[in-house]
Amino acid sequence: MTTYKLPLPKDFEGKLNNKNTHLITLTNRAGMQIALTDYGARLVSALVPDKNGNLTDVVLGFNSIQGYLNSVEPYHGATVGRFCNRIANGKFSLDAKDYTLAQNNGTNSLHGGIGGFHTKVWDRQVSFNKQVDFYYISPDGEEGFPGELRTTVSYELNNENEIIIKFRAISNAPTVVNLTNHAYFNLNGEGNGDVLNHEVTILSEEFLPLNENQIPTGEIFPVEGTGFDFRQSKLLSKDINSQEDQIIVAQGYDHSFVNNQPISEPIAKAYSKETGIELQVFTTEPSVHLYSGNFLSNDEGKAGKKYLRFGGFCFEAQHYPDSPNQQDFPTVILNPGEVFESEIRYKFCIRK
Ligand code: GLA
Repeated sequence: MTTYKLPLPKDFEGKLNNKNTHLITLTNRAGMQIALTDYGARLVSALVPDKNGNLTDVVLGFNSIQGYLNSVEPYHGATVGRFCNRIANGKFSLDAKDYTLAQNNGTNSLHGGIGGFHTKVWDRQVSFNKQVDFYYISPDGEEGFPGELRTTVSYELNNENEIIIKFRAISNAPTVVNLTNHAYFNLNGEGNGDVLNHEVTILSEEFLPLNENQIPTGEIFPVEGTGFDFRQSKLLSKDINSQEDQIIVAQGYDHSFVNNQPISEPIAKAYSKETGIELQVFTTEPSVHLYSGNFLSNDEGKAGKKYLRFGGFCFEAQHYPDSPNQQDFPTVILNPGEVFESEIRYKFCIRK
């Protein structure tokens, strides 16, 4: 059995673009512990008691800042922005002006570009071993996006074993914004094989089909009768190798599900029989994007084990991908004077 521990703060002491990096740890009264780093405002670890009371690290990641800097997969645990997921052809227009972004995913712009929020060292403020606020001011024009964007991401660990993530952003010019957290979870314990044996529930009637470039076609499809129907819980493995076009195009799940749940009700759940740990996701965002770790390969994680394909999954709560180019999707425009606010809660419980 693996004994999981939080990484050591000294192994996160580094310097990047003249800013020091750190590891911050939070604990609650229920015995849960999490670790965060200001590099990418990331969730590094979440030690959750399993059905036998043993602490299990359910978040994929690395033991040192160097691990994050050298990783094949750049988004482990990160705050992804300014615009998470894809923007077709790295282009959009806003108020009759055209903007061009880096094409870092085929012809698409992915996850805020090459120097997206996951690559920045955020300022931080820690309150009472309970909450961390990360701040970043993204200059006007950074990665091609208009407006100086001031962003705060706060992480709180409460005594109900919930990690509450709150995002806020303001801009001094009209812009587009879409922020998410990109934690990969393995409820069997990070590095402990793949997540195909997790039981997944997504209380969504509809999902967004993708074209061959993984850009939403603009349609909203019913999940009924497809491999995307998670309304009754099923093993993640059940349809992941099905011959449906939508599964083939993404080589697994990499799709947004429409969220009509209020923040008080979970939109998505995953459960590991091995550990008894269940993750519930609550959000104010209009969709949850299920990514089944289709492209994970070769990174060696905290327990020294390789993260292979399907070695972790993400529930990325967010606005719909490519929204700046899709009139009918919920708006992602942020104007001066407005405040962008959103919330994601990851709640951990034991199902016996
Ligand atoms: C998102 C994307 C995936 C992949 C991962 C990270 O979930 O939709 O295609 O890029 O991020 O690699």
